[in-house]
Amino acid sequence: MKKTKILLVMIACLAGGIFILLPQRILLANNSCGEGDTACMQKMHEHTHDEMEHSEHMKGMHQHKEFQGMKKPVRKTPKSLYDGRQLYEKNCASCHGKIGNGDTPAGKALNPPAADFTDNVWKHGRTDGEIFHVISEGVPGTGMTAWKNTLTEEERWKIVNYIQCFQEMDKAIYQCPMHPEVKSNLPDRCTKCGMFLKKQRTDDRGQME
Ligand code: HEC
Repeated sequence: MKKTKILLVMIACLAGGIFILLPQRILLANNSCGEGDTACMQKMHEHTHDEMEHSEHMKGMHQHKEFQGMKKPVRKTPKSLYDGRQLYEKNCASCHGKIGNGDTPAGKALNPPAADFTDNVWKHGRTDGEIFHVISEGVPGTGMTAWKNTLTEEERWKIVNYIQCFQEMDKAIYQCPMHPEVKSNLPDRCTKCGMFLKKQRTDDRGQME
């Protein structure tokens, strides 16, 4: 009889302990979401996920491997580069600059600032596919917005070709086949006859495809 009493008291103490401690543990583990409040927990998860993705992008250089193998459907021709230039100057130069170095009041006021295309540093990957991907989808949490609903795929590829020119802009020479005296270091049209200037071979990398 005595033994059972002691046992009962012990069980009561244990149960009491569990009842007092358990709810606190749940509260702590959920970081202030109420027990079973799945909506709250989901929100917290999304929040941390967003922050992680954002900080991944802020951290610096990374790659988007799934886009590296993408094949570029638009060739670098005098006409397509010229089209790329028109599209770029209309949509992108306000931040990235006419000569692609990001040196604009709007571009520098952003955090992170607008990318410099002349420095051969490609934070989001240097392949055709990765550059196309950044232009299409933008960079969430930065001033770089998505262009997939504003520009067609062909237009975006023409811009990819064009912004790749900035790296060698100081070395490249585009020349009119009819008027060799008309030259430019950007894809342009001849001021005398309107023909698209043809790129002269600068070095192996600068060769027209
Ligand atoms: C409102 C300003 C703004 C405009 C307009 C803008 N961008 Fe950007 N762009 C940015 C910012 C800011 C970044 C840097 C994002 C980062 O650091 O992650 C960026 C980054 C990029 C990158 C990534 C470069 C790298 O190093 O990997 C590419 C490519 C790019 N922009 C292309 C374009 C193109 C093409 C257009 C026009 C169709 C355009 N941007 C229009 C602000 C802009």
